[in-house]
Amino acid sequence: LHTLPPLQLANKYFQLFPEQRNPLWQVCVPCFTHMFGHVFKQFCFCLRTSHNPYYVGTTALYLFLLMHPSISSNFPSPKTYEEVQFFNTNNYHKGIDWYMEFFPMPSNVSTDFLFEKSANYFPSEESPRRAAALLPKAKIITLLINPSDRAYSWYQHQRAHEDHAALRFTFYDVISARQGAPPELRSLQNRCLIPGLYATHLERWLTYYPANQVMIIDGHQLRTDPAAVMDEVQKFLGVTPHFNYSQALTFDPQKGFWCQLLEGGKTKCLGKSKGRKYPPMEPEARAYLSRYYREHNVELSKLLHRLGQPLPSWLREELQKYF
Ligand code: A3P
Repeated sequence: LHTLPPLQLANKYFQLFPEQRNPLWQVCVPCFTHMFGHVFKQFCFCLRTSHNPYYVGTTALYLFLLMHPSISSNFPSPKTYEEVQFFNTNNYHKGIDWYMEFFPMPSNVSTDFLFEKSANYFPSEESPRRAAALLPKAKIITLLINPSDRAYSWYQHQRAHEDHAALRFTFYDVISARQGAPPELRSLQNRCLIPGLYATHLERWLTYYPANQVMIIDGHQLRTDPAAVMDEVQKFLGVTPHFNYSQALTFDPQKGFWCQLLEGGKTKCLGKSKGRKYPPMEPEARAYLSRYYREHNVELSKLLHRLGQPLPSWLREELQKYF
């Protein structure tokens, strides 16, 4: 077997297959299988790491995971608000070296875990296939809140960032916009509604990852009882030593959320942009979204039943409205 250093190998490969603009980065073993195979379909880099990156949704879980002594995250990206956004964007085409530079060098401690969090990998068409090709052993954590609340939270987030459409239109206008509506309104509508089609997105992840590598967390429970959730997360990851979150977290009445307890009794909460105060959702909008997500929520309950997973409290409540 003759091989070349990565850059030369890449040049050679794209000389041979110029039509293949869309690489799929893979780990070593499938890499070699393809090299020996008749058709060298995919260009591969070999990624050597004993670490297990995995992907999560909210900043709260991100902060809690980082409190664990054996868990570290990527270095922040100045461009994308900390998140690496590798698998879901054109950053993917920058290659594995670009991705790996976001992570600390492996320390040879097998109990160490690396992770990155992203709210955008979950609904992305490309991410599960690309992530599974490169990190087949990764564990995936998904955090699901009521999709109606997720949509509203995103709308409020966009208002706080002075998004033109979010300031100009009411939440009801956004969610109920029709086909001929202005493009900026339709685009905001998509960003509010599509990530909440949980069953569709989860099914996509489950075609690439085995069910025992995917954990589904009730986002409502993370908010009200984070210590219990973090115990489950530690079990799922098999991470040691066991970290006692009941002692390390405290409820901050001013923030209205659970926060990290620091020495001297001070607290470290998430920034101002997380857990904002905004008016409750209008009943008409809630009713509209309950109808909109009805079928998808029923599908999600079937999926969770199939996986032998309990239903999140918000999903039970939604199902009670339907039946
Ligand atoms: P809101 O700001 O709409 O209330 P993300 O980090 O994925 O953007 O998620 C932000 C959401 O996390 C917040 O949405 C908030 O409700 C929720 N959250 C859960 N636990 C939290 C905590 N301990 N501190 C702050 N926000 C928390």
